[in-house]
Amino acid sequence: MEHLLFINACVRGEKSRSLKLAQRFLDSWHKAHPNGQITEVDLCKDRLVPQYPEVLAERDALWNAGQLDHPMFAPARQFAAADKIVIAAPFWELSFPAILKIYLERITVTDITFGYDEQGKNIGLCKAKKLLFITTRGGDFSRPETAWMEMGARQLEALCAMYGIPSFQCLAAEGLDDIRRDKEAILAEAMGRADALAEVF
Ligand SMILES: Cc1cc2nc3c(=O)[nH]c(=O)nc-3n(C[C@H](O)[C@H](O)[C@H](O)COP(=O)(O)O)c2cc1C
Repeated sequence: MEHLLFINACVRGEKSRSLKLAQRFLDSWHKAHPNGQITEVDLCKDRLVPQYPEVLAERDALWNAGQLDHPMFAPARQFAAADKIVIAAPFWELSFPAILKIYLERITVTDITFGYDEQGKNIGLCKAKKLLFITTRGGDFSRPETAWMEMGARQLEALCAMYGIPSFQCLAAEGLDDIRRDKEAILAEAMGRADALAEVF
């Protein structure tokens, strides 16, 4: 049975367009993979504490003691063990909300999600072969003149390389806050892409 881990960083909850797009993808994925299992991590519910000095000190002490099975590292172990990963988040400040950054800091643990080989070269330790990032953006950041400003999908793609996840894909609906554009049409088109992607993901 395939295990898909869904990381939900859609701060607007049920009103979130990013979450609607993600739910459409997950529904289609479930239809295409009836034996697949989806586990959701809702970052607005879990509310991981940022790595303030005392949190980081505890993490360092546990890591140095070799206690990688400690509950503090449970999110990292869960991420490393997933077969497939979907992350959904809105486009904020040219990347994604801080709750997702906090989560990424928590799962980026040496010897769980990544490590170093004997030559000191980075090796990824995650099992997943694919990660899909689902997002919606107010502006359009796929055009050549604006693509360089997009730092959410690009950060996640780079992290996939570090975690050893070979395939990164991004499903984005863009220009949703541009009053000249037809929001419903943009979202409907993205929903169609979600369905097509779910078949092969
Ligand atoms: C705090 C905040 C920051 C945002 N920053 C950007 C931005 O940098 N660029 C942009 O194009 N849109 C930005 N937006 C607009 C959102 O990306 C857009 O409305 C998106 O569809 C919201 O997704 P949601 O419905 O899932 O919350 C921002 C919105 C919020 C609330």
